[in-house]
Amino acid sequence: MPLRLVATCALGLEEFLEAELRELGADKVRRRRAAVSFAGSWRDVLRANWRLRTANRVLVELADWDGATAETLAEGASRLVASGRSWDGLTAAELFDPRRTFAVRATAAASRIKDRRWVALKVKDGLVDAQRQRYGRRATVERKDPDLQLRVRLFKDRATLLLDTSGESLDHRGYRLASGAAPVREQLAAACVLATGWDGTGPVVDPMCGTGTLLAEAAYLALGWAPGRLRESWAFTGLPGFGRLPGFDVAAWETIRAEVLPVPGPEVRLFGVDREPTAISAATINLERAGLADRTTLELGDAHDFEPPPGPGLVLVNPAYGERLEEDADQWSRLGDLLKQRYGKGPGGPWRAAVLAGGADRGKHVGLKPRRRIPVWNGPLEARILVFDLY
Ligand SMILES: C[S@@+](CC[C@H](N)C(=O)[O-])C[C@H]1O[C@@H](n2cnc3c(N)ncnc32)[C@H](O)[C@@H]1O
Repeated sequence: MPLRLVATCALGLEEFLEAELRELGADKVRRRRAAVSFAGSWRDVLRANWRLRTANRVLVELADWDGATAETLAEGASRLVASGRSWDGLTAAELFDPRRTFAVRATAAASRIKDRRWVALKVKDGLVDAQRQRYGRRATVERKDPDLQLRVRLFKDRATLLLDTSGESLDHRGYRLASGAAPVREQLAAACVLATGWDGTGPVVDPMCGTGTLLAEAAYLALGWAPGRLRESWAFTGLPGFGRLPGFDVAAWETIRAEVLPVPGPEVRLFGVDREPTAISAATINLERAGLADRTTLELGDAHDFEPPPGPGLVLVNPAYGERLEEDADQWSRLGDLLKQRYGKGPGGPWRAAVLAGGADRGKHVGLKPRRRIPVWNGPLEARILVFDLY
């Protein structure tokens, strides 16, 4: 039986995640809210953790049951521990071995039980009660770095228990050593690049580059670098079954890491500009760590004074929010002028552009008609990816 898998993502990124999963050849791909479900093997779990640019985490669905009341929530969890179930060779007995520490996190929506901490508590109670019965002892709850990270999703009174195989969110690529004022999350940066449909050719410019995330994600795509290449740990290496199950061991992991991805832009060059010295030094550190220093030119200065290299290429911008709306309107119209005047007449084809604009209607003063306007959430903040073809 294939595993039922779920890759989670920020709200609004589902279409990109779905496309990524289809490209990986995943089966039964279905878009959900802030997630995409699919079916696969433990090997697919490894590949998804290594390759997905727009996902937060890769989860294995273990079971679902009626969670309308505290009792049924706990009973469902107990039944699972007592069961002879297995997930592509990983048995319930191995998974719920009381020597493993665990943590349960929950979400609750459209259900009678509204308090997600209560949901997590009841599922935890059900699990440890059944462990006491089955093994004569219970596992320890460990909030920080547990062996098993379990997630419960209660939706319309139905509880789904999921096992986290990623651990730290997949946006932790390993290159952001220096942070800045408002760095964009890596998955969202990758989505900005993917949204343009850029073919990997030509230079990439970010005239307000901050810590350099948009440049790094564009380069990763152009060079066929997997997003996991600098990351050091994933939760799956600590799961029972890793090293024992076929396709779920160090050898399979090494094979997946060695897979060659398409390299649409082997010659890609990156240009970043920022008016803040701290941003330029953060971008220098991060792009160096990403292994991109020799392709990158960073300049301290104003976006509006920067003379871009010959195009066509890709321009990516994530402007800061203005404090006041009038300030904002002016900033956006100046950005529109900048895009038109500096990037609008590349010989031989258009520059493509993605602007990540904070707020639902910010960006409407750009004065250019976007080809696409994609609502996304940047953490708790609503934002838009605006895609322009500048010709
Ligand atoms: C929201 S941050 C960009 C964050 C970036 N995407 C990252 O991941 O770190 C906006 C950046 O634009 C810079 N900025 C704002 N106006 C600028 C201008 N006119 N010229 C150059 N940089 C500017 C700010 O200094 C800030 O670093």
